[in-house]
Amino acid sequence: GKVMLAYSGGLDTSCILAWLIEEGYEVLAYMADVGQEEDFEAARAKALKIGATKVFVEDLRREFVQEFIYPAVQANCIYENVYLLGTSLARPVIARRQIELANQEKCTHVSHGCTGKGNDQVRFELAYYALQPNIKVIAPWRIPAFYERFQGRADLLEYAAQQKIPVSQTPSKPWSTDENLFHISYEAGILEDPDVTPPADMWKLTVDPEQAPDTPERITITFAKGVPVKVKNHNDGTEVTDPLDLFIYLNTLARRNGIGRIDIVENRFIGIKSRGCYETPGGTILRVAHMDLEGLTVDREVRAQRDQSLTVEFSKILYNGLYYSPERVYATSAIAASQVTVNGDVRLKLYKGNTVVEGRSSQTERLYDMEESSMDVLGGFSPQDSEGFIRVQSIRLKKWGQSVIEQGGKF
Ligand code: ARG
Ligand code: SIN
Repeated sequence: GKVMLAYSGGLDTSCILAWLIEEGYEVLAYMADVGQEEDFEAARAKALKIGATKVFVEDLRREFVQEFIYPAVQANCIYENVYLLGTSLARPVIARRQIELANQEKCTHVSHGCTGKGNDQVRFELAYYALQPNIKVIAPWRIPAFYERFQGRADLLEYAAQQKIPVSQTPSKPWSTDENLFHISYEAGILEDPDVTPPADMWKLTVDPEQAPDTPERITITFAKGVPVKVKNHNDGTEVTDPLDLFIYLNTLARRNGIGRIDIVENRFIGIKSRGCYETPGGTILRVAHMDLEGLTVDREVRAQRDQSLTVEFSKILYNGLYYSPERVYATSAIAASQVTVNGDVRLKLYKGNTVVEGRSSQTERLYDMEESSMDVLGGFSPQDSEGFIRVQSIRLKKWGQSVIEQGGKF
């Protein structure tokens, strides 16, 4: 059979590539460029040298930003109150192109290098099966013949030497990473002890907030229907409007101001707890700005419902790998409906790890009325109405209070 392998260029997927060929498959290697730092041409050469019959390097950055990152920003997606879902968001865009190429090349199988304990195997495979119900999946890290043979890095290195697989000269870091335009994750290795402080040189996408400039940087982000459409830097006049460039520029700003680091213990879908450190630079700025503009522009009840259902559910859908599902399609339609009024500017100060809101405005919103909100002018509001409002609200509280008093209870 023919296999479309999700290939990273690293030791694991290089050994998987060689092993699949040894098992009698024709292997085509697929690399998705989702904004990770990678020498794609070197990896292409490596895959061909190992024996891949074709190599595909696909730039998915623009669709990743527009179809996946921006909707997550619109919905304020977050998992367990801290994780901004950087890996979860990239899996569906990677899997979609892998299946398209598998179909185009008439592959019967797809393969990936995820472990049998994690979230990523679930995300990739649920996406594969939804997008191509007939596809067959080879997950070597769940196949005894593979994992019993390769019990550690030493076994992989030995196999690589024997198969003449080039191994990168840079010594491997004592943790595992997953990087894309939105974030980088650090897990496993020395980080498995949740009480081990990550070494200062682990962090790759942002400077240490303590080392960030002493001068704040001031910017304005303009949103249209909850999507960022312009960033203006007031320190140097830079303006960016292209959706992809804009996100890359926010990453640059966040990086030099030390914004977007977290260190957590999370619950994987499989049921295992896992310690992870993450940097989500631009995404952290966008979250602060977007949520602030919603305060000004979104109706109270829409916001309340969205916060307790849509935000939570959509985040769970993403985390659990259910992007290609009827519930996600349904959630997407609700996100759009919640964002119609989210138009305007948010002014921010970026300073030593912080994103501080300094003001916001909107030309289209009609919900905030400065006179109505004022403490100084009546602006058409009748104070007597509030008296009736409180009287009605208090009806049942008076009854309840009386009964507590009669029973000698304490408040
Ligand atoms: N724990 C994060 C998540 O489940 C990050 C996973 C990183 N994946 C990886 N293959 N290194 O989304
Ligand atoms: C992996 O298992 O490949 C990485 C961790 C995860 O998917 O959660």
